[in-house]
Amino acid sequence: MEILAFGVQADESPLIERAFQGHHAVRGLGVFLDEDTAPIASGHEVISTSVNCDLGAGVLEQLAAGGTRMVAQRSTGFNNIDLQVAGRLGLTVARVSSYSPYSVAEFAWTLAMAVNRRIVRASTRTRDFDFRLDGLMGRDLHGRTAGILGTGKIGEAFARIAHGFGMRLLGWDVTENPACRELGLTYVLKERLLAESDLVTLHVPLLPATQHLIDAAALKAMKDDAILVNSSRGGLIDTAALVGELRAGRFTGVGLDVYEAEAGLFFLDKSLEAVEDDTLARLVTFPNVLVTSHQAYYTEDAVGQIIATTVDNVLDYTAGRRSENVLVPRS
Ligand SMILES: NC(=O)c1ccc[n+]([C@@H]2O[C@H](COP(=O)([O-])OP(=O)(O)OC[C@H]3O[C@@H](n4cnc5c(N)ncnc54)[C@H](O)[C@@H]3O)[C@@H](O)[C@H]2O)c1
Repeated sequence: MEILAFGVQADESPLIERAFQGHHAVRGLGVFLDEDTAPIASGHEVISTSVNCDLGAGVLEQLAAGGTRMVAQRSTGFNNIDLQVAGRLGLTVARVSSYSPYSVAEFAWTLAMAVNRRIVRASTRTRDFDFRLDGLMGRDLHGRTAGILGTGKIGEAFARIAHGFGMRLLGWDVTENPACRELGLTYVLKERLLAESDLVTLHVPLLPATQHLIDAAALKAMKDDAILVNSSRGGLIDTAALVGELRAGRFTGVGLDVYEAEAGLFFLDKSLEAVEDDTLARLVTFPNVLVTSHQAYYTEDAVGQIIATTVDNVLDYTAGRRSENVLVPRS
């Protein structure tokens, strides 16, 4: 059987081929799955997808009509897949329920420290042989407060690093993580976390309940000089409202690895095209904002684990086994 993998980055391609060797043939495509590219999947029983593939009802119907029976998603988040429709169409769906949380937590810290210590501006200046310090002043984080929204695997890894910095830890979640409590993290209401935190970081999944978790009111509740980091999902922040606050001169820094309209942009080279997204265009003009294109997970360790688990998920499907990674079981 040939597995068709959508949204494969150049670095990933040899890793995917090596991982499937001895099991199944695999063809990696740079394009993302959507209504236009779905016909390519025709005749492939198993396909593999990534976060910015569109697996809404229309695409799933095209896949099912073309003979696809299994989707192996190469990520933890699955907000891009309509699981109900997949189930109705008899499509098995599996994801990678866990991989190195350190990849994302360490990257969230990279964004936080880069905006705090003005690293991008400093680097640009020294390349120009401009060695002034004006405008580069940051703040010690030791003794300041980190507010962690979502204290699961990644939130916990972030909290451990914050603990190492000597920060006071506040958390908000629907379930409490005893390991975070042991680090001294105090669970509080979201409003209190936002009001008291110098650094706010998001690690909850994107669900109807968490869509625009950071809306205009939440942004207003934050300290004027807070740092905001989102390495989870773009839809957690109302970006238009964030732009409004930034225009008003608020926040020490904002680090975003995800953006709510990133599909169709992130992972692609759009440098020679006219910019159509005015919100993103405005966002990147703020000197205190750093945007990266969904690369928090992109370490050798995490990508290796994602691919190995994806191979296991496909082998489980063909053997009729069911693991914790299965979101829609084989019917
Ligand atoms: N940028 C990237 O490269 C990247 C990579 C991997 C994961 N992520 C994102 O990070 C998120 C977190 O990953 P994780 O491995 O820590 O997941 P996890 O399941 O271990 O933790 C998620 C936490 O969110 C909490 N939560 C769920 N629903 C909630 C709600 N309605 N209100 C409050 N809390 C809620 C859960 O109780 C849990 O503690 C993923 O869902 C994904 O969106 C991003």
